[in-house]
Amino acid sequence: MAATTLPVVLIHGFPLDSSMWDAQKQTMEQQGLMVITPDLPGFGAAPAWPVEQYSMDALADYVAQVIAQHGAKQAIVGGFSMGGYVLLALLKRQPQLLAGVMFINTRAGADSPEAKAAREAMAAQVQAQGVQAIAEAMAGKLLRPQPEAEVHKKVLDTILRQTPAGVIGALRAMGARPDSVKLLADIDVPTLVVAGEEDQMGGAEAAKEVADGISRSTLLSICAAGHCTPLEQPEVVSLGMTKFIAAVEA
Ligand code: MLT
Repeated sequence: MAATTLPVVLIHGFPLDSSMWDAQKQTMEQQGLMVITPDLPGFGAAPAWPVEQYSMDALADYVAQVIAQHGAKQAIVGGFSMGGYVLLALLKRQPQLLAGVMFINTRAGADSPEAKAAREAMAAQVQAQGVQAIAEAMAGKLLRPQPEAEVHKKVLDTILRQTPAGVIGALRAMGARPDSVKLLADIDVPTLVVAGEEDQMGGAEAAKEVADGISRSTLLSICAAGHCTPLEQPEVVSLGMTKFIAAVEA
């Protein structure tokens, strides 16, 4: 059993909620770790903010507040995809909070003009027709090309639970996020980078860029998984994360 005093904080991706970490949370708690899986505003059980309030910096401050509410001065923080963008903002704003970081299927670069326009189009679609308008397409992109039916259903059901305000706010915040590639060189805590070999969102190359930019990083590449490695290969991801956490604690 790991005798840790550091909580592990796992930040979910878009358009999901904290339930994406159920398997990892269970494994970590069985090992005696304290695991905090916040729902970002407008996702899961967290009430939405006004849409104009969303930014990666504001979401990073929200996560910092969650860590403080647990009475912790430091934590090991993992971020999946959009959660990784929040983690990058946290590294920029409050690096002293982080004893170790895990970038799960995420990227450090900003959106291209085309990607920004696609986010705006998606936000307009959600505004007009609700979250169900984007659910199928998003679930398809998040998973590998031939996903397991059960995993596909879980992802789809999760997306359908989210609020339009949260989804629109997150889309705008992601579109406006800065390029953080230069920040990578300043990260001097142990870092785990996870990639899915069948990521349809270009995540494998993006994860390699993150790992290459951080001196104390380890890259874990996961086969038979797309973008959503924590859901598609839960045991492999849990094992990789718990081994990493044990090494940070040692
Ligand atoms: C996510 O999984 O959080 C999103 O796909 C990230 C993004 O759209 O950039």
